[in-house]
Amino acid sequence: MISFTLPKWYDLHTHFRQGDVLPAYIQAHLDMGCAGALAMPNTKPPTAIVFDKDKSEYWSIERYMRDLRNAGGSKFQELVVPLYLTIDTTPDMIIEGAKSGILKACKYYPPHGTTGAEFGAPIDKYIENGIFTAMEVAGVILCIHGEEHGLSPDKYFDRSTNAEEIFYSTHMPIIRDKFPKLKIVCEHITTKTAVDFVSESSDKVAATVTPQHLIYTIGDLIQGLKYHLFCLPVLKHCEDRNALQAAVTAPDNTKFFAGTDSAPHSIKATKCGCAAGCFTGGIAPQLYAMSFELAGVDLSDQKSQDIFKNFLCLNGANFYNLPIPQENFTLVKQASPLKALKTSNGEVMPLPLGLGMDILPWAIQN
Ligand code: DOR
Ligand code: ZN
Repeated sequence: MISFTLPKWYDLHTHFRQGDVLPAYIQAHLDMGCAGALAMPNTKPPTAIVFDKDKSEYWSIERYMRDLRNAGGSKFQELVVPLYLTIDTTPDMIIEGAKSGILKACKYYPPHGTTGAEFGAPIDKYIENGIFTAMEVAGVILCIHGEEHGLSPDKYFDRSTNAEEIFYSTHMPIIRDKFPKLKIVCEHITTKTAVDFVSESSDKVAATVTPQHLIYTIGDLIQGLKYHLFCLPVLKHCEDRNALQAAVTAPDNTKFFAGTDSAPHSIKATKCGCAAGCFTGGIAPQLYAMSFELAGVDLSDQKSQDIFKNFLCLNGANFYNLPIPQENFTLVKQASPLKALKTSNGEVMPLPLGLGMDILPWAIQN
């Protein structure tokens, strides 16, 4: 039986939500060997100021961090909450926040581009108004949801281009070249175009990759319209998945790392469609191991285990300057049953269970 031990890891892109559901989602992350997480700020209202303030329409990072810690997040060694960039973000907020040590990253959402992205502003705004300059100067990382917003349906998923490819071939080179010292994480990349962009850029540019984008393609979503597989950016084609698999399994990979984008929705199906987001809390290392095997990697081999460790445990920690945890967890090639997660707001389906798979080939021993 294959079994290998890894340092605990950081999920550098996840959604814990807010309120009474927090403890269940945080516990699911603790259960899968997480020593920390980057908790996305698309709360309601968005976490778009740094410090507590008497009057603001936004939540502060201070407040959201407090809620997360009180709900079990204090067991994490590291917790990062990026600042949600809005039209109200100022360069001073960035400089002051960075000085205090609370602000480590900011998140760009394309306006109305995904769940909770209503407060995003067009990317050019931040190029022009001094936000990216302040981030570059203060050493604050830019987490970027790289999709062109506001496209008409015929352009959104065209035969040869889509919203991510348009964004990576138009805006991203400009941002990278205008702000060469700005550290950028290209979040949840889905296309070969984005993989190539990251690979060709300097070591200031890295990317998170989700389990679903490494395992599935758009065909898996469309055959049967399996809404549990609907997330944004949407799954792409075989060539894209192959490029992602090649990037994360390369022996010299230092730029691509784990960020699950685990995004729980207790109500997935809506009146006319479905909510965007796949829930992979509790099972992400197991799914990543499956994706490596799907890519042809033999995880019984020590060298392959090291490559997996780079992707899951080391590259992201290094990019964010987080310490590598001393504690370990073990991945075992052993069948493990999947079950729905009970929360205060009903049950949430882990992605494979939503697709009808009730046993995973890998298990975790903490
Ligand atoms: O599928 C997604 N779900 N993509 C995002 O960018 C946001 C997330 C969510 O918060 O549900
Ligand atoms: Zn996300």
